[in-house]
Amino acid sequence: MGDQSQEPTTILVTGGTGKTGRRVVERLADHDVSVRVGSRSGTPPFDWAHETTWAPALSGVDAAYIAYFPDLAFPGAVDAVATFSELAVAAGVERLVLLSGRGEEEAEAAERVVRDSGALWTIVRCSWFNQNFSESFLLDSALTGEIALPVGDAVEPFVDTDDIADVVVAALTDRRHVGRLYELTGPRLLSFHDVAAEITKATGSEVRYIPLTSRQYATVLRDHDLPGDFAELFSTILDGRNAHLTDGVRRALGREPKDFADFARDAAASGAWATN
Ligand SMILES: NC(=O)c1ccc[n+]([C@@H]2O[C@H](COP(=O)([O-])OP(=O)(O)OC[C@H]3O[C@@H](n4cnc5c(N)ncnc54)[C@H](OP(=O)(O)O)[C@@H]3O)[C@@H](O)[C@H]2O)c1
Repeated sequence: MGDQSQEPTTILVTGGTGKTGRRVVERLADHDVSVRVGSRSGTPPFDWAHETTWAPALSGVDAAYIAYFPDLAFPGAVDAVATFSELAVAAGVERLVLLSGRGEEEAEAAERVVRDSGALWTIVRCSWFNQNFSESFLLDSALTGEIALPVGDAVEPFVDTDDIADVVVAALTDRRHVGRLYELTGPRLLSFHDVAAEITKATGSEVRYIPLTSRQYATVLRDHDLPGDFAELFSTILDGRNAHLTDGVRRALGREPKDFADFARDAAASGAWATN
């Protein structure tokens, strides 16, 4: 184990009610640390859109998990992470762990900002989350049986947020992970046809993948009140640049990542896709 005397005692978890942050908060309950949830419903409230909320959330904290919302690839994100990191270091935060995206220039710019912040850092760079289909913007699609996206036959090594949270908690609580960049993927490349087939198998209800044109998808985003930037983001990260596996989970944790089929089985068993 790392030198426990130098491990953080108070940790701010931004996105602490979201897909990765919630799991990080749950796991930190097993550690001898005080945890502050950084979200608009936290105490004090933390809002990426209101910089005045950042310093109060950072007060008295010695490590922070940065899960920027809505996405590191969106305009303004890198500046926000830069200002947040500066404020954090000024407030005495010694360790920063950044949740980053894979194959996105802006995400890599945010990584550089955190690496140059003066804090001890760990970068957790991730592929698409499994839980996008069970807890996020694709949940409704899975429930209605039609996952419609403008990504053709692209393949992606979907990663599980349980694995991400395990790596983040290790980075927050064990200084052996300081100065490391972990690129996390699941163990298998899947197309969105494959994803639909796995959810169908797990739920017993048919789910289909429907390839859309970018123009069709722009309408879907508008109808669901989602940022139009998602269309460009998906075509970037699913253009083939991320269609390979990494050993990040094994390097960080010494075990294999969770497969999408196991995720789908567990999500179905927990009622994530129950329709009544
Ligand atoms: N989703 C993926 O597949 C994926 C892959 C790689 C990297 N990433 C990166 O992961 C990060 C998080 O994305 P996510 O999709 O996983 O989101 P998420 O963390 O599940 O987002 C929800 C969380 O953000 C909080 N939140 C929402 N609006 C906020 C605001 N204005 N200020 C502060 N907190 C706010 C929510 O709490 P409240 O509602 O209580 O505020 C909740 O805790 C992004 O930076 C993205 O680039 C995502």
